[in-house]
Order: sequence, then C-alpha cells, then structure tokens
Amino acid sequence: MLVRLLYASRAVEPITSEMLDSILEESRAHNVEHGITGVLCSHEGGDVFLQVIEGGREDVNRLYNNIVRDPRHEDVVLLDYEEITERRFANWRMGKVDLDCVNPSMLLRYLERPELDPFALSAKPALALLEELISTLPG
Ligand SMILES: Cc1cc2nc3c(=O)[nH]c(=O)nc-3n(C[C@H](O)[C@H](O)[C@H](O)COP(=O)(O)O)c2cc1C
Repeated sequence: MLVRLLYASRAVEPITSEMLDSILEESRAHNVEHGITGVLCSHEGGDVFLQVIEGGREDVNRLYNNIVRDPRHEDVVLLDYEEITERRFANWRMGKVDLDCVNPSMLLRYLERPELDPFALSAKPALALLEELISTLPG
C-alpha cells in the first residue's frame, strides 16, 4: 500500500549548499533502498523546508519519524498524509527544488498571492505546484 506525506519545517540555521548536499546524499541512498520517492524544496540562505515523500506506509512512517527527530530542523508540521494509488514523483529518489527559482506567475496559478509560505499551504495546490516544478527540472 502506497502513501504520500507532505510536511514543512524550519532549519535551525540558515540553509547552506553543503547542508543540502549532505541531506540529499544521505536521503538518496536510503530512499532507493526503501522505495521512497519525493521532492525536497528549500533555498540556500533561507530557513524553510517543504518535502513530499511517497512509498510504502511503513517505510514512509518510519522515515517521517526519523525526519521529525532530525536536529537540523524544528517546527515540523504535517501538511498532508494520504493513501495513494500511484506515485506522482516516481522518478525522484529525492528531487531538489530551489524555492528561490520559482517564477511568480507559476505561484499565482496555485496560490492567492505569489508568495510561498510552506506552513500556510493547502495540500492539493502544494502538490500540484511541486509536480509542475519538478517537471521543469532535467531528469
Ligand atoms: C529536511 C530534511 C529532509 C530529509 N529527507 C530525508 C529523506 O528523504 N530520506 C532519508 O533517508 N533521510 C532524510 N533526512 C535525514 C533523516 O532525518 C535521518 O537523518 C536519516 O533518515 C538517517 O537516519 P538514521 O540515522 O536513523 O539512519 C532528511 C533530513 C532533513 C533535515
């Protein structure tokens, strides 16, 4: 059984490319092994993470518990959790989206204002936005 989970969190210190690379490197190795796919959104110098993870229910729950306890961030807020019949991010062991590069007109398609506050996002537009963002990245 597949589930998808979406959360936002706040980094304890400004996000650097080294921090992101180390999270992504560790994540991708683990995710392949556990059938996890998804996308991590953030931006260097910023302090928020928005992440979607998909996979088997047990694997996603175990990973989310690890992530919540990770000292590199805090205020982890669960935005959405649902059973799914198919993955939306099947090609991504953990895709990386830079929130700074999101174009305002794309944001306006899904949000009331062209501002992305991950903690205030509704799940459906957030997922649609993530899907569109990731489709613009080279595979
Ligand atoms: C924002 C953020 C996103 C993360 N995403 C993942 C992920 O997708 N997969 C993963 O294995 N670890 C991810 N981690 C790292 C986990 O919190 C944890 O360090 C990792 O699962 C190793 O756990 P372990 O020490 O119990 O093996 C993430 C950490 C942060 C701060």
